[in-house]
Amino acid sequence: MKQLISTADLTVADVDDLMRLADSFAEVQTRDVPKVPALRGRTVVLAFFEDSTRTRTSFDLAARRLSADVLNFSVASSATKKGESLRDTVETINAMGIDAVVVRHRSSGAPVQISRWTDAAVINAGDGWHQHPTQALLDYYTIRQRIGGLDGAKVAICGDINHSRVARSNVDLFTKLGAEVTLVGPKTLMPPQTSDWPVTVSHSIDDVVAEVDVMYLLRIQTERLSSGLFPTVREYRSRWGLTLQRASALRPEALIMHPGPMNRGVEIDAEVVDDSRCVVLNQVAAGIPIRMAVLYQVLGPGRFEDTAGDQVGVSTDAVVEQGGQAEPTNGAKPLSVDATEVNLEADSQSAIKEASCQ
Ligand code: NCD
Repeated sequence: MKQLISTADLTVADVDDLMRLADSFAEVQTRDVPKVPALRGRTVVLAFFEDSTRTRTSFDLAARRLSADVLNFSVASSATKKGESLRDTVETINAMGIDAVVVRHRSSGAPVQISRWTDAAVINAGDGWHQHPTQALLDYYTIRQRIGGLDGAKVAICGDINHSRVARSNVDLFTKLGAEVTLVGPKTLMPPQTSDWPVTVSHSIDDVVAEVDVMYLLRIQTERLSSGLFPTVREYRSRWGLTLQRASALRPEALIMHPGPMNRGVEIDAEVVDDSRCVVLNQVAAGIPIRMAVLYQVLGPGRFEDTAGDQVGVSTDAVVEQGGQAEPTNGAKPLSVDATEVNLEADSQSAIKEASCQ
């Protein structure tokens, strides 16, 4: 695996390998010194062109726990503010000799474009409405820990589906792993062409709440939507929110999930967050071993092809001893969900903004 742009790049076997690798790295985190030298001498740049708390900090911690050097590139204090184009910014960082760049950008397609300007491995940490592959992986890791897996599981993803890269990544990954996914929300927050998606659509959370194994809630993406897509926040909560009353209809072993940041009292009641079925903090915790696994696969000696052998899932101390460089792999077939991906030819940041579907 040379890069990770989309969950569509991953086969089921790739995902299994990442999960086993994440299990090994989760064990590392329980040690007195939660660190391995697997990526010693490698440089990882965190290039976040959009705000983030948990994704950025967990990539940062993950890279440090693998002993990589981490360069935090902050847009707020960078030459981007002075009008430098995205291409010039990327080429400048690239000239410093980096090994991986973790990108978050408000425009769909930005990580793909960046991968054309650098030889470093590109990891997508969220682009526009398009994809957020490590979120989907950490969500699956959490589900796998709690209920074993997704084969045959019923998952409802509820909220602002249309503007959500998490919805697109999770629909792709969850259905690939055998889940039956129902998208729930007002028509105005649904993508126009869900008929192309491997999902069922419902406009009533009450119709699905009692049946699901996973109730996955999404924030209203106020920064991305035009006004008037739902009447009021109060009405949204009463029709589509996971209220305390609705949570009481969930099965006792069901999971309540949310990628954060949460808007308590809108898509989820404050009291529901404290419910023992709510695994929001487990999701956050899963972010570190999952991002360690992804960084290790793109930068370390691990390769998806080799995982039939004993490379993945072995003790990470042993992994460290191995030499070599990751290679591109996977002929994984993209699913149809990533319709928002754009092919950006122009090199300026403003062109990227225009080309995005926002
Ligand atoms: C999500 C994102 O940024 O796409 N958050 C995250 O990465 N944990 C979801 C969101 O912002 O609503």
